[in-house]
Amino acid sequence: MNAKLFDQTINRLNTNSIKWDLYGQEVLPLWVADMDFPAPAAVIDALQNRLNHPVFGYQGHDEQLLEVICAWVERRHGWRIDPAEILLVPGVVTGVNWVARTFGKGGSGYLIQTPVYPPFFQAAANAGLRLIEAPLTESGGRYEIDFDAFERCVALEKPEVFILCNPHNPVGRVFNRKELERLGEICLRHGVLICSDEIHCDLVYSGFHHLPIASLSEELKNNTITLMAASKTFNIPGLHFSFAIVPNADLRKKMQSMGAGLIGHPEIFACAAAKAAFTQCDDWLADLLTYLEGNRDYLTSYLEREFPEIICHPPEGTYLAWLDCRRLDLQPDAYRFFLEQARVALNDGLSFGSNGAGFVRLNFGCPRSTLASALERMRQALDKTDRKG
Ligand SMILES: Cc1ncc(COP(=O)(O)O)c(C=O)c1O
Repeated sequence: MNAKLFDQTINRLNTNSIKWDLYGQEVLPLWVADMDFPAPAAVIDALQNRLNHPVFGYQGHDEQLLEVICAWVERRHGWRIDPAEILLVPGVVTGVNWVARTFGKGGSGYLIQTPVYPPFFQAAANAGLRLIEAPLTESGGRYEIDFDAFERCVALEKPEVFILCNPHNPVGRVFNRKELERLGEICLRHGVLICSDEIHCDLVYSGFHHLPIASLSEELKNNTITLMAASKTFNIPGLHFSFAIVPNADLRKKMQSMGAGLIGHPEIFACAAAKAAFTQCDDWLADLLTYLEGNRDYLTSYLEREFPEIICHPPEGTYLAWLDCRRLDLQPDAYRFFLEQARVALNDGLSFGSNGAGFVRLNFGCPRSTLASALERMRQALDKTDRKG
């Protein structure tokens, strides 16, 4: 495995990076979900090749690109899809908003499992939908779905659409077949459309396996819009390439009609990058996963050793860790404590829902030396508090 590639530290300051430029050079940013690694060489080559042609006109229909996506989804996730089922979308957040606006009618219910990725809340507000929360629960050292509460919620509140996040940001669960079948069965029985955000599907660690919920049965396939992307997997989110898999022609037509004039032609560089990523970068991804898993293990053992008060269930997928700091009672809150006292920028757990109060989310998609420095800064800040006395 090529650890050197991921060990190099690249200065991202003054590159208009959201992650690096918001807090300035004194702060180590382990927050917004992009990684500090260079894109795979084959992706960079593909972009440079495209640059060699000096005309940057509109991208037309590219059947080969759609076939590349189908081959990727089948090879990585065992799900055979058809090019005609794919809608290209500039981003998964755009996809979630697109679904919310297409299928939510004024005031209809929109169900999420909190704590969850903050733009999911915003999408409900943008579309004027009624937000319904079915909180995840903690049990046996991991987050789980309380199916009775989920079903009660569905039966009482009658949501139009359920936004599933799998693998789940921020709790890092990769939901298993049993869980997905049960969720799917409840949604089918109550007529709830599923929108499954699977942007982290390629970032899953040993012992776990991603299953697209739509691949589990014909009924689920026809009742699900699946959102995937090249962006998290290959660290190219600034290129804005993602796709919706919508096997049900009726749902697809409705989305196309709502998206007319809003979802434009795909971006030429994004398409060139995605094609290279999905065909030439399997080895790079295998190395990335080994490196990230090493970071995850480094992080969880550091936490256990140095801050046993912080609870973190090792993520099964994603490069995000969800840290329960409630026992430390940090002031004014955990996010601001680490930002102000340790100079480490994390995400405030509260932005993932009210059950995220006292938590922070840490992005470990960075060289191990950066992760080690951040943890060291956090340790020094905590040592100055009275947690040990
Ligand atoms: C669950 C989830 N969905 C969507 C996104 C962002 O997707 P995009 O940049 O394609 O809009 C993220 C980024 O962190 C995410 O974690």
